[in-house]
Amino acid sequence: MKIYRAHDYKDMSRKAANIISAQIIMKPTCVLGLATGSSPIGIYEQLVDWYRKDDLDFSRVKTVNLDEYRGLSADNDQSYRYFMDKYLFSKVNIKNKNIHIPDGSNEDAEDECRKYEELIDSMNGIDLQLLGLGPNGHIGFNEPADCFTRRTHLVDLTESTIEANKRFFEDASQVPRQAYTMGIGTIMKARKILMVVEGEKKAEILKKALTEEVTPWVPASILQLHPDFTLVADDAALSLMNI
Ligand code: F6R
Repeated sequence: MKIYRAHDYKDMSRKAANIISAQIIMKPTCVLGLATGSSPIGIYEQLVDWYRKDDLDFSRVKTVNLDEYRGLSADNDQSYRYFMDKYLFSKVNIKNKNIHIPDGSNEDAEDECRKYEELIDSMNGIDLQLLGLGPNGHIGFNEPADCFTRRTHLVDLTESTIEANKRFFEDASQVPRQAYTMGIGTIMKARKILMVVEGEKKAEILKKALTEEVTPWVPASILQLHPDFTLVADDAALSLMNI
């Protein structure tokens, strides 16, 4: 595990964007696993900036996103597809055919999850997976549970996740109750994993995930076992860890 300390959100975003940028430069045809939420927005802004300066080329990059709310179609402004278009895809030269996000409008969960796993396999897996950390320790939408779920699946969101995500909606009742998410096995198969964590509110769960036992009750704890896992976190998030 490599841990890089950042002073603040901007510094964290720039350091993490550097790692992603290096991946794209070293392998222009790479498969990037991407995340939504507040944590990666600064990274996407930095990548867009470098693209505009002609320092990055997304023309052969392929992407697979971690998750999508079930019941929201791509044009819904609360969908993760919409988020990704807004912050990254519409601003760089990525090809539409190379963008992949679970289809939240597919009611047939078994069909959607099977297709998503097959798709990732057909791309020969993920080169670099970007992750945020949920306040309850989730990664993707793999919520705390009594076992790890390996493959892409349909998940019932926990109250804590609905509460955390209601800031993007008018109120908690608008937050979808279910989502499609890559499984823990899908994420762990990525050749590199990069997690970004910011703020004091995540300090306790970050410490738990990375320094205590590996348990499905803290899904991110599995990352301790990944052979190429990098964390970029700010001082506040690292404040309870002795590093
Ligand atoms: C988003 C995702 C989630 C978030 C996590 C942290 O695609 O899968 O696991 O990464 O909930 O969210 P933020 O960054 O908003 O604190």
